[in-house]
Amino acid sequence: MALRPYIVGNWKMNGLRATLAEARAIDRVAARYPAVDVGIAPPFTLVHAMAEEAQAMAVGGQDVHAKPSGAFTGNISAPMLEDAGARFTIVGHSERRSLHGESDGDVQAKAVAARAAGLGVILCVGETEAERDAGQAEAVVSGQLHGSLPKEGAEGLAVAYEPVWAIGTGRVPSVEDVAAMHRAIRADLVAIYGDAGKGVRILYGGSVNAGNASELLGVADVGGALVGGASLTAESFAAIINAAA
Ligand code: G3H
Repeated sequence: MALRPYIVGNWKMNGLRATLAEARAIDRVAARYPAVDVGIAPPFTLVHAMAEEAQAMAVGGQDVHAKPSGAFTGNISAPMLEDAGARFTIVGHSERRSLHGESDGDVQAKAVAARAAGLGVILCVGETEAERDAGQAEAVVSGQLHGSLPKEGAEGLAVAYEPVWAIGTGRVPSVEDVAAMHRAIRADLVAIYGDAGKGVRILYGGSVNAGNASELLGVADVGGALVGGASLTAESFAAIINAAA
């Protein structure tokens, strides 16, 4: 099954209103690559402004609360994100799991809530360096998938494999290790969803840049990339989009 490449930038806690100029430039790049799905997840403060202007790229959230509304100071719900113009959200990023103590169950509840609001979901999984060194990388990721993916269907889902030790470090796994992990994730997706699991895009994330994107995107079953630092400027992000085309 040929899946459309999906290149998503996660701006994390970077970006002020001045950054909208960069978003406009990325949108113009996305327009040149109609065969590639392009998304940017900016800080919440920029979602509405970016979504209002975006023509060729999707705008998304970096996280979402599992409840639709209520007394949850500082949180944003899925209906709010959708109302602001978002089309997808990231859930379960390792920075949420480690810095905010989010469990697989929390991530699953967020994914279910996002889909109920009509948002696509990019659900992140990945092992720590200690887990990889202990030979447990595939078991850890499999546990995260079984614990955090919604049970009721694969529609609107993408999975991002992000080894924690590769995020923001300039280190990336070997192509053999990326291929082995994506193969294992695909097997889990098919075990959970049956044939529909073959249609879920599996993105690689962790120190993707203009120099290594072609090699990583050429690995079997790497269906795109979730990009942090190299998505902050249109110039470097354009090179990654180009590598996916
Ligand atoms: O969500 C994006 C990832 O955490 C990767 O970040 O490309 O800066 O390593 P990075």
